[in-house]
Amino acid sequence: MSTRRKTAILAVLGILGFCLLTKTLNTLVKSPGSTSYTYNCAKCHGKNGEGLGALIPPLADTDWLDTNMDQVPCIIRVGISDSLHINQVWYKEEMLGLDYLNDIQVANITNYVSKRFTAKQKYYSQMEIEALLKKCE
Ligand code: HEC
Repeated sequence: MSTRRKTAILAVLGILGFCLLTKTLNTLVKSPGSTSYTYNCAKCHGKNGEGLGALIPPLADTDWLDTNMDQVPCIIRVGISDSLHINQVWYKEEMLGLDYLNDIQVANITNYVSKRFTAKQKYYSQMEIEALLKKCE
């Protein structure tokens, strides 16, 4: 094999290796809450919490979430079917609870939502989450 060909093969392998490494690092750095949010919430509330027109309320940039953050664990577990006035729009559709998510997943998603979408960015310990979840058992 010519040196030139060897160099070319090495270069390709190098690039592939680099791509694989950055992809792995990316997954490792992402918080578990971020991944769970993507799988369980983003299809309705949007990747960036923007909501969906008059059907699904936004999570990003709302006063509602800032004042009602403590309700989030129960909203995830049992859902919510209130009339909600958020950013000048009335939302009346029902959200069903995602009761297949365990307490740890609820905590991860709650903390992700708090950090990403609220001004206070309150951190919830696992004990706080358990206490909040007791209210909707
Ligand atoms: C099938 C669509 C759907 C999915 C999936 C969904 N939601 Fe909702 N969510 C809604 C709807 C519709 C409402 C409005 C309910 C109402 O008006 O009472 C809502 C309301 C909310 C609210 C209160 C209003 C607001 O915008 O702040 C929060 C918080 C919330 N969802 C968080 C979540 C989280 C976190 C997840 C993922 C674990 C999730 N939702 C998954 C449809 C969904």
